[in-house]
Amino acid sequence: MTNEASERRGFEMLKIVVCVSGGGTNLQAIMNAMDEGRITNVEIMAVISNNRGAKALERAASRKIEAILMSPREYSDREAYHEAFTAKMCALDPDLIVLAGFLVRIPPQMVEIFGNRIINIHPSLIPSFCGVGYYGLKVHEKVLERGVKVTGATVHFVNEGMDEGPIISQKAVNVEENDTPELLQRRVMEEAEWILLPQAIDDIANKRIRLIDGKVLRGN
Ligand code: GRF
Repeated sequence: MTNEASERRGFEMLKIVVCVSGGGTNLQAIMNAMDEGRITNVEIMAVISNNRGAKALERAASRKIEAILMSPREYSDREAYHEAFTAKMCALDPDLIVLAGFLVRIPPQMVEIFGNRIINIHPSLIPSFCGVGYYGLKVHEKVLERGVKVTGATVHFVNEGMDEGPIISQKAVNVEENDTPELLQRRVMEEAEWILLPQAIDDIANKRIRLIDGKVLRGN
């Protein structure tokens, strides 16, 4: 079975929506890759954030990309937020949803509707240091606490679990002796996240990966 995202629109541009919560350095890496031709056949339809203050929204607006705020605080409860978030995403109807530093759980109904058309970047080598409670700087704090010598990042398809979907790509990063969580986070972003996520988007847009029996294979 080929990847659903790249099959939906045949050979037209792959339309993506990028979900962000913070600084947006992964979004910036995607936009830089598009400018430099390392990502082809992709169009960013919109950027959605749960966080009004996310610098990522400014990054989107500076490129005239629709920046949308979907804050849980503006809804009476989690269910109402899930409904509204899912309805908004369905209205946008992207071929691929990219979670780039997005710290909110994806509504189960969105996973159901979009199937294998949601990808996420996680700042560790899954299945290590992932799952509930492992996000942002906390991941790197736990890595240093455990004393592992190698960490990295993972791009994976999103399923109903937390960081449990089929793995698309991973890249290892050395842990240095005097690392702080901040130093390690920066190195993982520079040496892994900002490389892996654009590469995965370009591979999906150009039909270079296939999903067979829950495993990601490369090649047409
Ligand atoms: C970073 O910790 C990154 O590792 C994770 O989300 C956080 C913010 O990323 N993926 P960004 O700068 O908002 O892309």
